[in-house]
Amino acid sequence: MDSQRRRLVLAALASVSASRFAGAQDAAPALPIEEVPYVQTPPRVVRRMLQMAEIKSSDVLWDLGSGDGRIVIAAATEFGARAVGYEIDPALIRESRARAQRAGVASRTKFLEKDLFSLAFAEPSVVTLYLLPEFNMKLRPMLLAQMRPGTRVVSHEWDMGDWQPDETLVVRSPEKPYGTNREHKMMLWVIPAPVAGRWRIETAMPHPANGLTIELTQRIQILDPTPDRGETPWAHLRGTSLAIGWNEVSTRWALRGQIAGGQWRGELQRVGQWANSSINRLSVPFVAKRA
Ligand SMILES: C[S@@+](CC[C@H](N)C(=O)[O-])C[C@H]1O[C@@H](n2cnc3c(N)ncnc32)[C@H](O)[C@@H]1O
Repeated sequence: MDSQRRRLVLAALASVSASRFAGAQDAAPALPIEEVPYVQTPPRVVRRMLQMAEIKSSDVLWDLGSGDGRIVIAAATEFGARAVGYEIDPALIRESRARAQRAGVASRTKFLEKDLFSLAFAEPSVVTLYLLPEFNMKLRPMLLAQMRPGTRVVSHEWDMGDWQPDETLVVRSPEKPYGTNREHKMMLWVIPAPVAGRWRIETAMPHPANGLTIELTQRIQILDPTPDRGETPWAHLRGTSLAIGWNEVSTRWALRGQIAGGQWRGELQRVGQWANSSINRLSVPFVAKRA
């Protein structure tokens, strides 16, 4: 489809789908929508999305469906990151390249005319989306299977079904030109490390928790821990940061650390009411391996 005709189709779709872009997620679509209309993320929402991703100069950002390039250009100009925009509309690619040139970030940005579903997702450390729910759901298994643990995904407006976001941010937007809810919703997901299985804890010095084993079941980033002793266990996983806690008699323990190279390393800490007093403070390095 040529660019002019495509813009007309997208303009028509934009009016059909304006209410969908209002965040009305429970309203079922009347018709299947095959293309995502071109709707821009306002600059202050772009900045909040990038702040949510905690983007820094060492990151590589991909914006999937990059429109006029505003997210890619902001990642480079405001945060010093390298960034790539993938877009199917060649006119928007040309516009993005010209904008990047004017902003002085042509060498740190790239705009490629590609269908986002043809991509392999091993390179980026941050991915941004402003698509439609069915696009997010089609992308979800690709992102989870191909991206490195710790990679951040930020979506404007649309969620990922039952993959719960790690953070949600809503900003009021009285000037929003479409929809009824006059706000912008942003969601962050961090690709979780695979941690399911049995782990055995070894402490760096003699400790009652030395030799503890913990069985973890995992559904995306949600964990169900079963330690071989203690009660009321809990677990939290964000990317490669894993924390697990449990109670033993009157003491609460927590293991907090990082997953890397198939091991989990960190500190075993006593937590709770008196944990920070000088007599009760206790922090012991541990390493956990698969049992
Ligand atoms: C809602 S706009 C978002 C633009 C920009 N990311 C922003 O937030 O301002 C979605 C963009 O995705 C592009 N798009 C739709 N389907 C695509 C596909 N399969 N591959 C690449 N880009 C696509 C559209 O042309 C449109 O520019």
